[in-house]
Amino acid sequence: MIQGHGGNKQQLADRIGCRLEDIIDMSSNLNPLGPPERIHTFIRENIHLIHALPEPDAAGMSKGFADYRGIDPGCVMAGNGTTFFIYTLPLALGAKKALILGPAYADYEDACAAHHVKTSHCLTLAENNFVPDLDQLSAGAEQADLVFICNPNNPTGNLINKQDLETLMRRHTNTCFVVDESYLPFVPDAEEFSLVEQTHLPNLVVLSSMSKIFRIPGLRTGFLSGAKALIRKVMVHYQPWSVNALAQAVIKDIYDHPEEILPFYQQTREFIVKERRAFAQALAETDGIRLFDTPVYFMLARLDKILASQLCRRVGDDGFLIRDCANFKGLSYRFVRFSLKTNKINLALAQSIKTALARKQNSPCSLILPGRF
Ligand SMILES: Cc1ncc(COP(=O)(O)O)c(C=O)c1O
Repeated sequence: MIQGHGGNKQQLADRIGCRLEDIIDMSSNLNPLGPPERIHTFIRENIHLIHALPEPDAAGMSKGFADYRGIDPGCVMAGNGTTFFIYTLPLALGAKKALILGPAYADYEDACAAHHVKTSHCLTLAENNFVPDLDQLSAGAEQADLVFICNPNNPTGNLINKQDLETLMRRHTNTCFVVDESYLPFVPDAEEFSLVEQTHLPNLVVLSSMSKIFRIPGLRTGFLSGAKALIRKVMVHYQPWSVNALAQAVIKDIYDHPEEILPFYQQTREFIVKERRAFAQALAETDGIRLFDTPVYFMLARLDKILASQLCRRVGDDGFLIRDCANFKGLSYRFVRFSLKTNKINLALAQSIKTALARKQNSPCSLILPGRF
């Protein structure tokens, strides 16, 4: 397992000597509005569900997602987070060479390494605002049997349109494309970008995490959708009851109330558009930091004057946990990512960043600087 995911609140609390609950975690990407209220109520009223075994294959939960998306339930699998699928796909599909469109979520590479699948990267560049070069991506896909694309991408926020992705898949029919749409529900008009409904494409699987949009990462729930032949290959590696009873029931309950889903998405989307703007404005005149455009609520930034580790430490002193992006392949020790929260917190972080950047570059920082930039 890789180390260095976001969200290590305990480490920061220990360092600055405060309570865990006083740390403001802006390093992990979760819905700033919190979960829909019905999830808490449902769990309170249905805790007894843990006294019995759930469906071994979580078929009811898959059907909820399939019905909501208007696809055949046979084209959907439910997992204990999309992480299960990320780590199973390289093995289940018998991949030998994988291509990752990066800089991207590090677990794709880790999952391939776990199954001895060779990886290469098609890296987007800061100077091009991380917009992918589709010809380069296509050339890389020709050499690979598995391609990971995160759409919108974590951590750059870059979004590729549906037509371009479909063209790639039609051009490289011997290559399987894994499109991770875990952050897509946050994007305005997400429905126009989603490939979930394209189950007729024989070389596509789509991952949809419930952790991010519904802010339930601790429940561990997510879906894979795709052609039935691909589902069968993944199912060989599925362990019975891997989605627990409460998790299955919570997700079923969400999809039993489909009329509440889109309004919740819309509320989230409107909220983050406003907050993104306010945060960018608060840092607009600040020297030494460049924010990259994003359609979601996490923002990548490049630092010109100090290292990511220094900024993390300085804002950490104020109780803010932000993501040092040095361990993303294709980024350097100059990149950080902020996951926005509510207005007051976002503006307080902006102020902490300004203060941190205004400090002299060589003011004390006890972290050992890494060897490469
Ligand atoms: C792009 C991306 N995909 C998938 C995951 C895994 O999420 P989960 O297993 O909770 O669905 C994450 C978690 O941070 C992520 O950033």
